[in-house]
Amino acid sequence: MKILSIESSCDETAAAVVEDGRKVLSSVIASQVEEHRLYGGVVPEIASRRHAESITGVVREALEEAELSLSDIDAIACTFAPGLIGALLVGVNFAKGLALSTGKPLIPVHHLRSHIAANYISHSDLKPPFLCLVVSGGHSHIVMVEDYTKMKVIGATRDDAAGEAFDKAARTMGMPYPGGIELDKIAEEGNDSAYTLPHPTVAGSEYDFSFSGLKTAVINLIHNAQQKGEKLSREDLCASFRKAVVGCLTDNLFKAAEDLGVSTIVAAGGVSANRLLRRELERICKEKGYALYVPQLSLCGDNAAMVGSQGYYEFISGNIAQSDLNAVATLPIDYR
Ligand code: KG4
Ligand code: ZN
Repeated sequence: MKILSIESSCDETAAAVVEDGRKVLSSVIASQVEEHRLYGGVVPEIASRRHAESITGVVREALEEAELSLSDIDAIACTFAPGLIGALLVGVNFAKGLALSTGKPLIPVHHLRSHIAANYISHSDLKPPFLCLVVSGGHSHIVMVEDYTKMKVIGATRDDAAGEAFDKAARTMGMPYPGGIELDKIAEEGNDSAYTLPHPTVAGSEYDFSFSGLKTAVINLIHNAQQKGEKLSREDLCASFRKAVVGCLTDNLFKAAEDLGVSTIVAAGGVSANRLLRRELERICKEKGYALYVPQLSLCGDNAAMVGSQGYYEFISGNIAQSDLNAVATLPIDYR
């Protein structure tokens, strides 16, 4: 089954053709990040406009790259939630129009479910059940993936997402948006014990995260040093901050893994590209005997191939939308 998939939840307009949920026939991404960088973050109104301008060309390119025409496609999948509402609407309406005019089924895909599905493309042997750490710019979840379309949230952030914390700390250190990537690179050169940062926990819920205090601690440290005229080591600060964030993520993840008695750990989302997170997951999984799956780097960030993968499993489970499908800004991963 060949699915044409569309992603437009944030600042990437993407389209792909994926066969049977695992084989990517084409994947095209038009990133707007350069334009949003001017403003230090994603400007929703600009994102919607750029999606509207790019989507026809991106979808056409995905079909061309797969050497297919619309008549070869069996279904259309699109990200419908969660994300920026105006941005999502562009992809949803385009997919609806295509489905209506071709008579093909329309498949609604949850953005975080698709991040998890990126792993099905990277690892042909991966099947649920597994415990997944989903870490992106907007979300930080520990999810028990019981089946391809059956999930349970075990833990979540109470405030900032991990990616957001990385980006905000990076911005305070003068790095351009999205700074998480550069912070990770610079951290490789630093001493991660140079600065003491808090290890925030959430009272009464051992699997939940809280990153806003950690972000504020870094901001205060920088401002205090500036006021005193002291020089901080950017490398050491990046390394210390990264160690603190990754420590929170892995502590809760492996506590949940132990309590739930799972044997397989999976990571997903933009932050799963983080070098230290990948190394730590590998180290701890090896030590404790868990099987570990992380997406290939090209599939960690937003793309449409992962939408085509999850779309296949949604279709099989009978999740097919009608022409009244609407975009939804916030929706839990276990919505159905
Ligand atoms: O999943 P994603 O592409 O978009 C959302 O759905 O949010 O995630 C983007 C986030 C950004 O916050 C970005 O800074 C972060 O992922 N990110 C990283 C790294 N690569 C991307 N954060 C830390 N280390 C990285 N290597
Ligand atoms: Zn994403």
